[in-house]
Amino acid sequence: MEQINIGLVGFGTVGQALYEVVSSARNAHAAVKRICVRSLDKPRKVQVPAELLTTDAADIVNDPDISLVVEVIDDPEAAYRITCDALRAGKDVVSGNKAMIARHLPELIELQQTTGRALLYDASSCGSIPVIRNLEEYYDNDLLLEVKGILNGSSNYILSRVFDHGEEYADALVRAQKLGFAESDPTHDISGNDSLNKLVIITLHAIGVYVPPKDIFVYGIPTLRAEDIRYAREKGMKIKLVAQVVKLSDAKFTMFVMPEFVAPNRYIYAVDDEYNGVVIRGECYDRQFMFGKGAGGRPTASSLLSDITALRHNYRYEYKKSGFSPRPEYTADVTLKIYARYEHTDLRAGLPWIAVNEEYRCDDYRYAIGEIRLSDLIEAAPLLRADDIFLCNFPRFFADRDD
Ligand code: HSE
Repeated sequence: MEQINIGLVGFGTVGQALYEVVSSARNAHAAVKRICVRSLDKPRKVQVPAELLTTDAADIVNDPDISLVVEVIDDPEAAYRITCDALRAGKDVVSGNKAMIARHLPELIELQQTTGRALLYDASSCGSIPVIRNLEEYYDNDLLLEVKGILNGSSNYILSRVFDHGEEYADALVRAQKLGFAESDPTHDISGNDSLNKLVIITLHAIGVYVPPKDIFVYGIPTLRAEDIRYAREKGMKIKLVAQVVKLSDAKFTMFVMPEFVAPNRYIYAVDDEYNGVVIRGECYDRQFMFGKGAGGRPTASSLLSDITALRHNYRYEYKKSGFSPRPEYTADVTLKIYARYEHTDLRAGLPWIAVNEEYRCDDYRYAIGEIRLSDLIEAAPLLRADDIFLCNFPRFFADRDD
């Protein structure tokens, strides 16, 4: 079998793991021929022959012996330029760059069509879990109702350590970085934006609709405090950072990323540390669950390798669901039930609640629990940036089907 020559762009945690995995794979028939790095002299765990390294991505894009570019850098706009150049140069691309893909999906789909080349990116969402290819191929019918889960390993690692092991938030964050789970800027992990990017990609493959990240409500865990953990524990629940896309009817769907109270009878309750878990719900099969390592060099490299070998069999995403008619439309006109804890920023008075069911106040903090429109939370974004508040969702969709 003819060998695939790979040009690897990015040689951080994931790039180095991929180099090792490809070098030891018995059936990939692939070899890394060139590696584009930011600095030639940087000390690295994985040693490679010096002639493989370059600092110019053009050395890869313009090399006629390289048929496949694997892109694993952390700058989404640089990644976008390299991906477009590689597709235009007649090369296939495998990418793990969720921010680039979520931002530029429509253009990237069009470019695949005009160039005839393929871009695969299962590694962009949920690390080692093959969620994109399954949504694309197996769930290619009208039955899908909801995709919901933990899509970010670092924030889940932090929540597990703080919640289950009583560790300090800041210590857990530093360890998530040391273990190679976190983004180079870990605010993307804890703000929920990394989960949001993955949700945008998952939604396109789940129901065939692209919604730009800027239109979607996202709330993360940077302001989580001991009192929120205490509240959850008293109710016998955990707090998880959950991303969800939910079909409300044949005509409408909603999506958002938010911390959520998770009861012990939920699949994602047991998803701890850097693991991710995705619940897929459909008309005929109720719930299915995919679980696996969502971050880290080797788990992500396994997913990249799987896309590399899929390209050998001429696999490409067909984006079949984008042609479904009619397709549901995104709406934020939906009612959520949330917990809003605050100190100085008065969320009781400042948010347009539909109803407040419960209120609590003590010297240090207050909270309100009640119903609110998702669209009003989007409108309230400036207020919700305050660092003395925390929001957490109570799951409502399909609650009657979860016994
Ligand atoms: N920083 C990401 C995470 C890496 O923690 O999930 C995998 O996408």
